[in-house]
Amino acid sequence: MTTKESQGELHPGDRVRSLFPFFTEGPGGCYLDSAATTQKPAVVIDCLRDVLVNHNANVHRGAYRLSAHATELYDQARVKIARMIGAKSERSIVFVRGTTEAINLVAYGCELLFNPGDVILLSLLEHHSNIVPWQLLAKRRGLTIAFTEITATGELDIADYRAKVAALKPKMVAITQLANSLGTVTPIQEVVEIARNAGAMTLVDGAQGITHLGVDVESLGCDFYAFSGHKMYGPTGIGVLYGRPERLEAMQPFQGGGDMISYVSVEGSGWAEVPQRFEAGTPAFPEAIALGAAADFLTRFSKTEVHHHEVELVGFALETLRGEPGVTLYGPATNGGHQTSVCSFSLDTVHPHDFATIADTFNVQVRAGNHCAMPALRKLGVQATIRMSFGVYSSKADVVSVVTAIREARRIFGR
Ligand code: ALA
Repeated sequence: MTTKESQGELHPGDRVRSLFPFFTEGPGGCYLDSAATTQKPAVVIDCLRDVLVNHNANVHRGAYRLSAHATELYDQARVKIARMIGAKSERSIVFVRGTTEAINLVAYGCELLFNPGDVILLSLLEHHSNIVPWQLLAKRRGLTIAFTEITATGELDIADYRAKVAALKPKMVAITQLANSLGTVTPIQEVVEIARNAGAMTLVDGAQGITHLGVDVESLGCDFYAFSGHKMYGPTGIGVLYGRPERLEAMQPFQGGGDMISYVSVEGSGWAEVPQRFEAGTPAFPEAIALGAAADFLTRFSKTEVHHHEVELVGFALETLRGEPGVTLYGPATNGGHQTSVCSFSLDTVHPHDFATIADTFNVQVRAGNHCAMPALRKLGVQATIRMSFGVYSSKADVVSVVTAIREARRIFGR
């Protein structure tokens, strides 16, 4: 390790693999499905184990020291997350199961703020989890959903967005920071500014963005920001909804139960303060505490360096695959646009699912399919792609292994 690393700073690349037991003790290999879930560093695994072994007692309930300490660790995790995303107060941090639950929570919690005919503006780039909860809400409340167009290479069409905001006056704009299917980086600052100036609420899907771009919610100015733990080197089953305090205050509870009430009587109940109001039942506190460890881990990297590393890998993948016969590449970077951490492509004679199976025999894991982004792929005129997605541990050698698998697949299926 360099002096910087021993002082705590980390640098993306091959060498960081030594911090991930998956690579040192587990199956290792060319894991290129980090957009689906990342591998976990030892600090996260150890933290989870430590909580379960040494600090396991239900939070907010026990009058004994073990429970008080678990509660303290849980509260500290909330503070770490607030700090990581630049939130002014930890009261803006609601622990949820993941991005999907966060968006469902907003769609349900804000339900009574919508009136029939109101418009929700999304984009064709969205993951299904940033489409379906709004469709369900629209059905319940008689709302209209509109979609911002994307260009032929999968960039957000900002002119169309601007025009739709002006014409439709949406009440809510919900848009991704970084598209999981193509790696498109959206001009999210501009998107939020335009929406806010038009009086719309804004939700940013940060499921991918949190890991590969990072965020400062205060300077971004969004009302809500949603992300998952397991895509940022943390555990599954835990995620975060950031909400501006006044927005969270205006929301109705999503689920009822213990911990989210101030009192319960046979006549009715009162609600706990935000954010507990939205955390009914025993929370996933060991996972939340380990998410705090993941936040500590992620903040040891420079955001700029991570971005540079992952953009460079995308560039290398495009350059390498461009030379391969039968390959079609998708995404903004194919035309000089802003794309990171993901490279999506298809093969002329091999179905993506068949390719993923063949690649697996080379110990290369890629995702094949529509990536829960059917509208985006449909717009690009393709049903499924093969997707490599990178993390801090990914390297050019992983991409080279994909090329080996491509040649083998085309040999088997015929050129
Ligand atoms: N949303 C995850 C992905 O992109 C599962 O693969």
